[in-house]
Amino acid sequence: MTSLSAAAAAAAATRLIPSATATVTKLTYSYSLHLKSLGSSPQLSHQFLPQERASRRFSSGRIGYSTVASPKCFVSDPEQLKSAREDIKELLKTTFCHPILVRLAWHDSGTFNKNIEEWPKRGGANGSLRFDIELKHSANAGLVNALKLLQPIKDKYSSVTYADLFQLASATAVEDAGGPKIPMRYGRVDVTEPEQCPEEGRLPDAGPPSPATHLRDVFYRMGFNDKEIVALSGAHTLGRSRPDRSGWGKPETKYTKDGPGAPGGQSWTARWLKFDNSYFKDIKEKKDEDLLVLPTDAVLFEDPSFKEFAEKYAEDQDAFFKDYAEVHAKLSSLGSKFEPPEGFSLDDSSPQGQPEKFVAAKYSTGKRELSEAMKQKIRAEYEAVGGSPDKPLRSNYFLNIMIAVAVLALATSLVMN
Ligand code: HEM
Repeated sequence: MTSLSAAAAAAAATRLIPSATATVTKLTYSYSLHLKSLGSSPQLSHQFLPQERASRRFSSGRIGYSTVASPKCFVSDPEQLKSAREDIKELLKTTFCHPILVRLAWHDSGTFNKNIEEWPKRGGANGSLRFDIELKHSANAGLVNALKLLQPIKDKYSSVTYADLFQLASATAVEDAGGPKIPMRYGRVDVTEPEQCPEEGRLPDAGPPSPATHLRDVFYRMGFNDKEIVALSGAHTLGRSRPDRSGWGKPETKYTKDGPGAPGGQSWTARWLKFDNSYFKDIKEKKDEDLLVLPTDAVLFEDPSFKEFAEKYAEDQDAFFKDYAEVHAKLSSLGSKFEPPEGFSLDDSSPQGQPEKFVAAKYSTGKRELSEAMKQKIRAEYEAVGGSPDKPLRSNYFLNIMIAVAVLALATSLVMN
């Protein structure tokens, strides 16, 4: 993303959220400077210093992206997360930023490597994408705009981690766009240092030489299977690709030239703010030149194993929604460290990811009182053998068995004779 397009995006964002004008302008300015500082000219890098100093001042010595004071937070508070969810819904209403929020969360979690045990080395949903160093990875071009949109919410809620906020925003966006309810859990711990960011190159390419092999290499590394790869790709039912960010897509089409949100780019579907199964229908038909089909999209109908699921999802939206909800939840927790370890849900008080505790009362119909007649009968039976229901007979099981064996032996010998 060039500094020009960063400025353009910020201008668009500013139009959309007037209240955030000051923050966005400031952040974009510093981002542009930062991009310049990445250029080959060493003279330019000094321009970044004032912002860097500001960043250091506000983020207690850490060179994070944020230029505003955001107290460090290690554990999220469920009530604050719920309030943040309401703020995200408001943000969605005014900016239509659903797609970029989904992409932000996926790029935070999609760095996960299941072959590395150590946290946060293993990557995943840990909030590392807030740091410049990771935002600068070429796969993340443009995502700084998503961070800008969420930063005011992060600043408002001191007890919400970035890792949770990214995933909350994405799940809320999918649901708000008409998608399935995602069985999310929260409690993700944030990384604290830019040094904890994963190395570049863990996210998929859109145009590799062998798309099917590439998708399997990348997504199997995260622990997904073919069905899950196809279901996850269905997230491209939302949003657009922009040549000035990823290099893919047309600058604008009849579906994107008027927005909503910042106009332009090429979408996979005609109604790119509606979460449904039209992605599978459209990439199967490939009839409309205004709709995007990346090589990694096309392969879903070419590879025999992917095709089975892509065909099913094109036919059956319910099947897609069911599988998508499950795999989105899985994606959102990749590599995360939770506090408490099992995480918690925002929709009920029980922690998720834990088998429900067995409570006998839930399965029995309740204790019934014996009738008086029955009590008398039992009493009489006890008294007949010299006991009482209040003081049960002491039993000697060994003796009982011996008696039973003796009776059996006696009976057998009688029968034989
Ligand atoms: C299968 C491998 C994938 C590849 C190669 C890929 C590639 C891309 C590319 C090139 C863009 C355009 C970015 C831009 O120019 O702004 C994009 C956008 C997007 N991706 Fe993916 N992606 C993949 C998987 C996923 C997954 C798993 C999700 C979510 C679960 C996802 C969600 C999105 C969304 C919502 C957008 C639209 C963003 C916007 O409109 O700002 N993608 N993707």
